[in-house]
Order: sequence, then structure tokens, then C-alpha cells
Amino acid sequence: MQRLYRKRIVLGVGGGIAAYKSAELVRRLRDHGAEVRVVMTQGGREFITPLTLQALSGHPVHLDLLDPAAEAAMGHIELARWADLVLIAPATADLMARLAQGVANDLLTTVVLATNAPVALAPAMNQAMWADPATQANREQLLARGIRLFGPGSGSQACGDIGMGRMLEAEELARAAADCFETGMLTGKHLLITAGPTQENIDPVRYITNHSSGKMGFALAEAAAEAGARVTLVTGPVFLPTPDRVQRIDVVSARDMLAACEAAMPCDILIAAAAVADYRPEVVAPHKLKKDPSTGDGLLLQMVRNPDILATLAGRTDRPFCVGFAAETENLLEYAARKLRDKNLDLIVANDVANPSIGFNSEDNAVSVIDRQQHETRFGQASKGHIARALVAFIAERYKES
Ligand code: PMT
Repeated sequence: MQRLYRKRIVLGVGGGIAAYKSAELVRRLRDHGAEVRVVMTQGGREFITPLTLQALSGHPVHLDLLDPAAEAAMGHIELARWADLVLIAPATADLMARLAQGVANDLLTTVVLATNAPVALAPAMNQAMWADPATQANREQLLARGIRLFGPGSGSQACGDIGMGRMLEAEELARAAADCFETGMLTGKHLLITAGPTQENIDPVRYITNHSSGKMGFALAEAAAEAGARVTLVTGPVFLPTPDRVQRIDVVSARDMLAACEAAMPCDILIAAAAVADYRPEVVAPHKLKKDPSTGDGLLLQMVRNPDILATLAGRTDRPFCVGFAAETENLLEYAARKLRDKNLDLIVANDVANPSIGFNSEDNAVSVIDRQQHETRFGQASKGHIARALVAFIAERYKES
């Protein structure tokens, strides 16, 4: 179940007897490649020890909202931003009621309010509590707000009753969590995505490149595959694993990248997240350059323009829906809008790379998307995985309207 690979899951553990199953759930999620951070309510701690879940998740368990030491390590806002999914298992009747009302009186309910990630609950309670009109009204309200419910199942209960209210088994919950990452928005579409830097050789041992890590482009490829697209990812030299169900083509220089993209055409949507070198040395020295006393302390390299991959593909007769990125350190929106026009794009993603916490080689990003009518849509700071899923959803919408 590759869909959980490298997904960040905050597992909330409420105070119900089914909390013993949460230990197995942590193991299953991790077996499928997810990273898990556990948040326990006061009630949850009465049923299973934080130490057990710490040992199984490999990380300290988060317990209190007002604990300065815990907040300094990874506070509630960071946890909320970190998560790709917040899964609460077991979700008691009390937790469902508090979440339905938007109450934030402990760490778990606060994380739920603060996160942009999908939230899913695995209800677990006595059958009469589940059937109670108050719980059913809360259930309706949670569903209306987009919160997912996994189960409950039916059967014999710890209290001796038989009926609805059993928490689903760990493997069923892991599968349901994986399904959260499938959207189907781009089923049947071919997406071509460029990522990473290019390297332009100076001689056999030296090259010119930039700080792109490929994280943004790879996250987009993963999100596009989750949306059901066939994805071709053309990437410069990076140290990242290939996302599941993505066809990866490794290249080195800008000219290699253009050739690989042209070979991958036609496509429905092109997303150019690569940081392509605009120039390359005109001549690549056949042997390692030696210090030359006749040039003093200097070295002059004659550079020539590289082809513009995005503009080239946007100029073809079988032109795809074209989305560019603009990495800028000043006049972000103005320069991005100019690139949208000059390269004949449908959308451009403006990326402020002057801020080291977003942009090149960071875990997070924050971007604005500009369309041909100069409308700006802002995507606030979040992990590149989050941003990628939000961007893919946005691009899919705009593509359908085009
Ligand atoms: O890889 P990460 O570390 O995760 O960082 C992400 C990122 C900052 C690299 C990425 O989000 C980003 O902003 N990529 C575009 C960087 C860039 O080089 O932008 P640009 O303004 O130079 O180019 C504008 C657009 O034209 C880009 O879509 C670029 O891919 C494309 N281009 C540029 C030059 C060229 N010769 N061919 C191109 O296709």
C-alpha cells in the first residue's frame, strides 16, 4: 500500500477501550511507510500508556497543550502543519461532540482546528451511545464539515452489548487512511512534470547548478499520481526516491531535459517545477581546467543561453495546459506575471525564494498562483506535500474549465 509511503499521520488516541487497537494501528501505518506522531487525550492515557505508543511510533507522544517543553519541541501549530492526515482512533462520543462544536480544550482538538490536512475519525463506543440522537447529530455535522468517518463496525462489544460502535480493525483503518490520498481528479490524464536542478558542465569535474532539491516537483508528481493521472517526471540530479506509480526520467543538463520532455509528449498538463539553468558554458573543456598564470586570479567563462523548455512546449501545436513556476527574490508577483505572459502559460506559481523557510531545499513552501486574468490565489505555508496536493486540485479545476 504505497499510498501511505512517507505520509505524515498524526494519530489521535481518545479515551475508549478500543485504544488498545491503536498500538497495532501505529505498527500497520509504519509498516506501510507512514511516519506517525501520536497525540493522546487525558482519557486515552487511562487505557494505554504513552510509553507503548512512543516505542511503536519511534517518537515522543504529545500529551498536553500547555506544556512549554513539548511546545518548544513541536508545538500544536507545527503538528497541525506537519500532518498530511489527522486520524483519531478511537474517537469517543465525547471527542465527536467536542469536535462537532469546534471546541479546542486539549491538544488533540486544538490540532484538529489548526490543521489544513484531512481529518478522519474512527468512532468507538457503546451501541446505545452511537445510536443516541446527540451522537448522530454530531456525526452529521462532522460529515458536513468534510471530516471523514471510518466505521464504526458492528458486533459484540467490550461491555457485552451487540451492535454498531466497534472500532474498525487496524488494517481496515490503514486502508481507509490510504484511500484519503486518492482523489481521482485527474484519472485518464497524462501529466508531465519537471523537477530538480540542471547541471551544466564546465569541464569533466566541474559544473554550474543551483539549490533545487527536487522536493517540490516530486511532491507534485506524487500528488498527481494520487489524483489518478499517468505521471512522467523528468528530473535533474536529485537524491529522492521515485514516488509510487510515477515514471521517472533522469537527466543532467537543460538540453537533456528538453529532449526528455519532447520525447514524453503529448501530455494533457505540463507542470514545470524544475530550476533550469538559463545559461551553460559555450564550450565544455575536454580536460580538467588548470590554473593559468597568464589570466592572473581570474577565469572568464563564455556562457550561452539554454533552450527554454517550458516556452518551447507551450509553443507547440499540441500544446498542453501549461503551468510554470517563478522563483524570485524580489518583485515576486510582477516578475511572475511577466513570465506567464512571455512564456504563454495558463498558470504560474510564484515562489518567494528569498525566504529560506520556503522555496529551495526547504521542507515547506508558500506560493501564489496567478492566472491569465491576473487573479492571484494564495496557498499559505505548509509542507511541500500539502502544497502539492492543493496545487494539483487547483490545477485540475482550472484545466477542466479551460
Ligand atoms: O526543488 P526544491 O528545492 O523543492 O525547490 C522548489 C523550487 C524553488 C525549485 C520550485 O518551486 C521553483 O520555483 N521552480 C522554478 C525555479 C525557476 O528556475 O524559475 P525561473 O523563474 O527561472 O523559471 C520560470 C519557469 O520556466 C519555471 O517553470 C522553469 O521550470 C521554466 N524554465 C526556465 C528556464 C528554462 N531554460 N527552461 C524552463 O523550462
